[in-house]
Amino acid sequence: MNASLSAVPAFEHLSRIPLYVPGKPIQEVQRELGLARIVKLASNENPWGPTEAVKARVAAVISGSEYEGLGLYPVSDGYYLRQRIAERKGLSVDRVMLGNGSSEILEMVAKAAFLEGGSAVIPKHSFAIYGIATQTAGGRVIESRASATELDADDILRCVDGDTRLVYLGHPSNPTGLRLERAALERLVRNLREDIVLVVDQAYAEYEDPATYPDTAAYLDQRPNLLVLHTFSKIHALAGLRIGYGLGSKELLGLLERVRSPFNTNHLAQAAAEVAVQDLAFEAFSRQKNTEARAAFTLEAAKHRCQLTGTGGNFVLMETAYPAADLFQELLQRGVIVRPMQGYGLPNHIRITFGKPEEMQAFWKAAGPLLDGGC
Ligand SMILES: Cc1ncc(COP(=O)(O)O)c(C=O)c1O
Repeated sequence: MNASLSAVPAFEHLSRIPLYVPGKPIQEVQRELGLARIVKLASNENPWGPTEAVKARVAAVISGSEYEGLGLYPVSDGYYLRQRIAERKGLSVDRVMLGNGSSEILEMVAKAAFLEGGSAVIPKHSFAIYGIATQTAGGRVIESRASATELDADDILRCVDGDTRLVYLGHPSNPTGLRLERAALERLVRNLREDIVLVVDQAYAEYEDPATYPDTAAYLDQRPNLLVLHTFSKIHALAGLRIGYGLGSKELLGLLERVRSPFNTNHLAQAAAEVAVQDLAFEAFSRQKNTEARAAFTLEAAKHRCQLTGTGGNFVLMETAYPAADLFQELLQRGVIVRPMQGYGLPNHIRITFGKPEEMQAFWKAAGPLLDGGC
């Protein structure tokens, strides 16, 4: 949608910034198509949660307590949740910040960085909010080389300009599911100019094998200009509550505090996340279910000779002969919502979130006949 802004000339520059297009909500498809059963595999949510313990904590907040009644403001800086996260990560509480989803932290860091202009280096095919946050804050996007099958740390370093203030990296990246190998990540962390803030978005890190995943948080003590982001929207299954967190140096987070809206995270989200962040068993369960879903999907995709990209995250990027927008529409008519990727420079790719086994069966029931001639 490109709104005509001639009536609002002061805001006309905004029309050059892409609009974020979210996954289509189930209610919208029901309303538009009158379908009773819809399967949504479009927004990388975790279908297995939240847990009963999380729901019980939310219910307790709703029923009200001395500190947590809904009529009171929440703890503005989310101290108690930050403490829980700090314990889990082995950091002091002043090295943890919260956002209304990690998207808000992506926006906060851009707002802080581009107050007086400057540029951000962002690999091609990255999560759309990196570019949108940069541009809405007045920054310029420099797109570094990447393909649907390969991320390039050295090109990120080559693209850095005199006025570069930020580098964004999805690790793994959405929608490609790619991440850097440890050596390449280390080259980036060590060789990026020290005054540039490196934002490593680890929204899907918990889906990785903890034994082999190169967690960028390992470099926090070596690089004061490093911000590592996580979210409660993915493996913790709290997308509806909007809460995420950032890990960084005390100095960096102290400065970012100046661009944080007071009370940016709410009571319900803080309370739910306090329970969720301690629940390692639910994380392990979700990771296992995700691994099983990926294995089953890979087998089925091979039958249709479909090309899959990446191994990270709770989703898969699939290339087909169909234009993505057409395949998306065909699947929608059959009650399955996926995410077409033409807006990410991938006109023949769709991204599919791993749902429960019965949801994946619904996907293949709808997609199988469409792809019968081969992907
Ligand atoms: C790579 C990446 N980062 C951040 C987010 C935003 O998550 P949140 O719900 O915490 O704003 C997403 C959501 O899809 C994502 O894919």
